[in-house]
Amino acid sequence: MWRLLLLCALFVPHSLGLRICSFNVQSFGESKRDKPAVMNVVRKIISRCDITLLMEIKDSSNTVIRLLMAQLNRKNLVSVKGTYQYKDLQPGDEDAFSREPYVVWFQAPSTEVKEFVIVPQHTTPEAAVREIDELYDVYLDVKQKWNSENFIFMGDLNAGCSYVPKKSWKNIRLRNHTEFVWLIGDNNDTTVKSSTNCAYDRIVVVGEKLVSSIVPGSANVFDFMVAYGLTEEQALEVSDHFPIEVRLKESKRPTSRRRKYLKRK
Ligand SMILES: *[C@@H]1O[C@H](CO)[C@@H](O)[C@H](O)[C@H]1NC(C)=O
Ligand SMILES: *[C@@H]1O[C@H](CO)[C@@H](O)[C@H](O)[C@H]1NC(C)=O
Repeated sequence: MWRLLLLCALFVPHSLGLRICSFNVQSFGESKRDKPAVMNVVRKIISRCDITLLMEIKDSSNTVIRLLMAQLNRKNLVSVKGTYQYKDLQPGDEDAFSREPYVVWFQAPSTEVKEFVIVPQHTTPEAAVREIDELYDVYLDVKQKWNSENFIFMGDLNAGCSYVPKKSWKNIRLRNHTEFVWLIGDNNDTTVKSSTNCAYDRIVVVGEKLVSSIVPGSANVFDFMVAYGLTEEQALEVSDHFPIEVRLKESKRPTSRRRKYLKRK
């Protein structure tokens, strides 16, 4: 079975805030491990982020991730408060997901929002409408369990082209409840091939504190093909998806707080 991985707390230049990324690294396994040029691009992509969701890890030997981790530079920007595999046993609606979300609660002392939950998801294309809708149930479940308000849903939701027809959106609770903010739009393209144009990969946020701590304009589809000067063929060796990302504002520095205090005096 394909696996998901959340890598966290990696090196990042600091003034940018906390950058959170999601990347479907199409069939990430031994064959890619043995291509240094590919590993180099994957490493560079992940190094830009503080938290990264990796999807489609197909690595029974467990060597790819070990190698990747060894190559990455670690730094403690966030810590894990809790983890939870969604049980997917709702009466009448059992087994809605083919990959039950592995939910992670993060603590982030250096950002404005001090804690948030990430619900990663890689949907099955043909079941995308049902699975995206079902994320709303995951939201209600985890919100109650952890008493947290701030949620980031992200991953390859297959939320575009033929898998989610336009008319389906109004029946998807994660979309028709207006408190959810979709940061990657329906017309954005998260596919590498120039012949396709689909917004498969998405980031959706909810929670007043979290929403207000998003760096304006920071939600992005990271075109690593252009950024690293690759041909389409070279880029497709890395993945058929571009990563997506968003940044969270840093908390105000103690110095500025002090300045405020002195002014008041
Ligand atoms: C949102 O979608 C749900 C699930 O399909 C549906 O039951 C509900 O009526 C929809 N709400 C609105 C306001 O369209
Ligand atoms: C989505 O597409 C619009 C219109 O092309 C563009 O302005 C915006 O920057 C894109 N957003 C992302 C997250 O790539």
